[in-house]
Amino acid sequence: MSHQLRPATEADLNSIMELEKASFGNDSWSRPVMKAELLATHTYYLVAYEDEKILGYAGLSKLASASSADIQTIAVIDLYRKKGIGRDLMERLISQARTLGATLLFLEVREDKTAPQALYKSLGFESIDRRENYYQPDGIAAIVMRLELQ
Ligand SMILES: CC(C)(COP(=O)(O)OP(=O)(O)OC[C@H]1O[C@@H](n2cnc3c(N)ncnc32)[C@H](O)[C@@H]1OP(=O)(O)O)[C@@H](O)C(=O)NCCC(=O)NCCS
Repeated sequence: MSHQLRPATEADLNSIMELEKASFGNDSWSRPVMKAELLATHTYYLVAYEDEKILGYAGLSKLASASSADIQTIAVIDLYRKKGIGRDLMERLISQARTLGATLLFLEVREDKTAPQALYKSLGFESIDRRENYYQPDGIAAIVMRLELQ
C-alpha cells in the first residue's frame, strides 16, 4: 500500500515530535510550539501515513486577513525519503493555499539543505532573499523562497 495524506490532529503529536527531532536536531521546535501549531485556527497541517504509521508531516500558515501564506515546515522519515511523499505533501499545501485565497506563498530553508531546496525549485519556488546567521546556534543563513500562485 502506498502512502496517503490526511489532516494532522493532536493525536499525531508524539509521532510528529519524534520525526521533528530526528529531522531538525538543534533547529527542532519544542512540543508546546508544535502543539500550538497543530491547534491554531490559521494553520493547516497534514500527515502522510501508511497503515497506522506516520511517515511525514507538513504545515501551512494563512491568516484570514493576509493575501500571502507560509510553508511552516515539512519532514519525511529518512527511510521513506525520495519516494514522492515530500512532493505530495507540498502539492497539497500549495493547493490549500490557493483555496484559502493566497496569491503568494513563502518559505525559509537552510542554505546548507540541498534536498528541500531542490524540491521547492521543482515546484516553482524562486529564491528572493538571504538572511545571514538565521539558524542558531549553527549560524547558517536562510534562503527565502516565494511561489506566485496566480
Ligand atoms: C525535504 C524532504 C521533506 C523531501 O521529502 P521526500 O519525500 O524525500 O521528497 P520527494 O521524494 O517527494 O522528492 C521531491 C524532490 O525533492 C528533491 N530531492 C529530494 N531529496 C533529494 C536529495 N537527497 N537530493 C537532491 N534533491 C532531492 C528532488 O527534486 C525530488 O524530485 P525527484 O524525485 O523528481 O528528483 C526530506 O528530504 C526531509 O524530510 N528532509 C529533512 C527535513 C527538512 O530539511 N525539511 C525542510 C525544511 S525547510
